[in-house]
Amino acid sequence: MTDTSRVGPANQQTNPSGSRPRVLIAAELESLLPEDPLPGYEAVWISTLDPTPRGDFVAAILLLSRSMGEEELEGLPKLQVLAQCAVGYDNIDLGAAARRGIPVTNTPDVLTESTADLAWALILAVARRMKEGQEMLAQDTWSGWSPTQLLGLELNGSTLGIVGAGRIGQAVGRRALGFGMRVSYSDAEGRPDFERAIGAERSDLPTLLAESDVVTLHLPSTAETRGIFDAHRFSLMKPGSLFINTARGDLVDEGALLESLDEGRLGGAGLDVFSREPQVPRELVEHPKVVALPHIGSATTQTRRAMAELAVKNALEVLAGREPLTPVRG
Ligand code: GLV
Repeated sequence: MTDTSRVGPANQQTNPSGSRPRVLIAAELESLLPEDPLPGYEAVWISTLDPTPRGDFVAAILLLSRSMGEEELEGLPKLQVLAQCAVGYDNIDLGAAARRGIPVTNTPDVLTESTADLAWALILAVARRMKEGQEMLAQDTWSGWSPTQLLGLELNGSTLGIVGAGRIGQAVGRRALGFGMRVSYSDAEGRPDFERAIGAERSDLPTLLAESDVVTLHLPSTAETRGIFDAHRFSLMKPGSLFINTARGDLVDEGALLESLDEGRLGGAGLDVFSREPQVPRELVEHPKVVALPHIGSATTQTRRAMAELAVKNALEVLAGREPLTPVRG
């Protein structure tokens, strides 16, 4: 790339040439974007592992691992837009951005289908006890086919409970039809189109938890939802049922989840997200009933490119004085 510069961490970033306005962009996105993705601007590629730089950046294109609160924004006085390359934006203090009049954008829609696929990969892996089966082969303890070996949950005829029926929750629900599952959902809003499309039924959360064989979580992380899956909520789940989380780790009390698995109350869990990423509780990851993945819900080449391109477009639209394509409405 000719139009870019790479800099070290946390130094005061100024524009010595004064030529082109500078855009802070996560270095991890570089290989997903075309050459010169920000014509007219100087792209300053900084890894999300580095501290947030201070300086005269007019836009910041961010990953969810970069926190953006009062302190970081204080150091970015020229910022006109925060363009998040993710659908979730719990790393950004929306209040702090709003107080400075800085719009925030995210990347919904483009990742819906790939994330729903991954939720299903986890549902299937946990329902059919794939981790235990793989381990049996890896440890060379398999003694041959047995009629009672590794019996799992038959999805056909079982109930899938979707907690949060937004875009991704609904895409997970659509796939359930192909597996012959009944679908129920809980959501602050009724979703009549979703109900009509696949015969989904809306329930309150306790009823959904009591009746579902598989519970799949698709809520954003907010002050209201954080920790929603605590010991009480797990105790309401149908004995032996499965818990899937491809949303955010901090929706879950991981200690309570582990206890429910150890007590045998839950039959298994599929987790793509953790509350203190990239740290993961070893007891959960190594648990025979848990299939755990390193936050790869949207990780297909096509989706990650589309996310990066949408984040860049959002930044450019705001810088050009236009409405962004996918604003976050705070
Ligand atoms: C990923 O977790 C996202 O929010 O896009």
